[in-house]
Amino acid sequence: MGHGFGKIILLGEHAVVYGHPSIAAALDNYGAEATARSAKQSVLTIMPWAKSVTTGTPSAPSDAELRHAFESLLSSYAMGALSVRVDVHVNVPAGSGLGCSAAIGVAIVRAIDDLLNIKRSSSEVAALSLNWEKVFHGNPSGVDSAVASHGGFVRFAKGQPLALLHIPRPIHVVVALSNVVARTKDMVAFVSQQLSRNNRRVVSVFEGIESLVNRAQRSVEQGDLDVLGQCLDLNHALLSSLLLSTPELEQLCAEARSAGALGAKLTGSGGGGAIVALASSASSAQSIQERLARLSRQCFTVAVHERSIRESSC
Ligand code: MEV
Repeated sequence: MGHGFGKIILLGEHAVVYGHPSIAAALDNYGAEATARSAKQSVLTIMPWAKSVTTGTPSAPSDAELRHAFESLLSSYAMGALSVRVDVHVNVPAGSGLGCSAAIGVAIVRAIDDLLNIKRSSSEVAALSLNWEKVFHGNPSGVDSAVASHGGFVRFAKGQPLALLHIPRPIHVVVALSNVVARTKDMVAFVSQQLSRNNRRVVSVFEGIESLVNRAQRSVEQGDLDVLGQCLDLNHALLSSLLLSTPELEQLCAEARSAGALGAKLTGSGGGGAIVALASSASSAQSIQERLARLSRQCFTVAVHERSIRESSC
């Protein structure tokens, strides 16, 4: 059995692809579970989507990426004819910036490792599952896979050790999904295009995001939610300046703020997907969630709390 966590990015998406830091939290109640067993052919099933792909066998065009990702992951085992059936159950909404594909990739690696009795650290699991993630995201920063594997509330920057964030008390964050599904690969490519056309402007947006991440980290650790909220609002404005927001995401953020959120922003790739809204307390989160539920196709509250990240293999 293998598990991978879904995640929310509080600050730093997109800039993180270019080496800047980000702050993200694992979702304890949203993730993927996988089991693996030896089989004649390598088959991957994903429930409740009723998806099934078999390696080396043509699949429907809509499943070609999934098959390719599975083949890519299996080939990284370097065991020649590894033949395995993997069954995944996922409850992270897909295409919503909540780390669905990374959660599945990590769960699959853990399930296969379990079957083959391979012991790996959480960092090694995250690194291996990037072979899967690259098929869906093209040029992933690795933040989704790191959080899917380690869990916890963390600061992530490419090539640096994952840092656990210390918080005096839980932070209540409302997550609301818009009705538009976005492809991270397309949104990352869109930002890359802007970077090559208008390098100076986009680099300064990334630098602005980095200072917000640093300021937010201090406010998280000091329990200063007002400043954290301001950082979220400003991060959203910088992401909007890269044309990553949508009218629906704007409406959700505005509604969250008018319902009492200390700050709100798109989370993940943008272009659709979801927003996160920071609440001052559990009861404020409940009122914000009630208001957002009228506009959102799915809405829930996460209590982000300090916990150790998984470093051991499992
Ligand atoms: C996607 O969850 C976050 C992005 O920054 C892409 C990435 O980091 O790979 C948009």
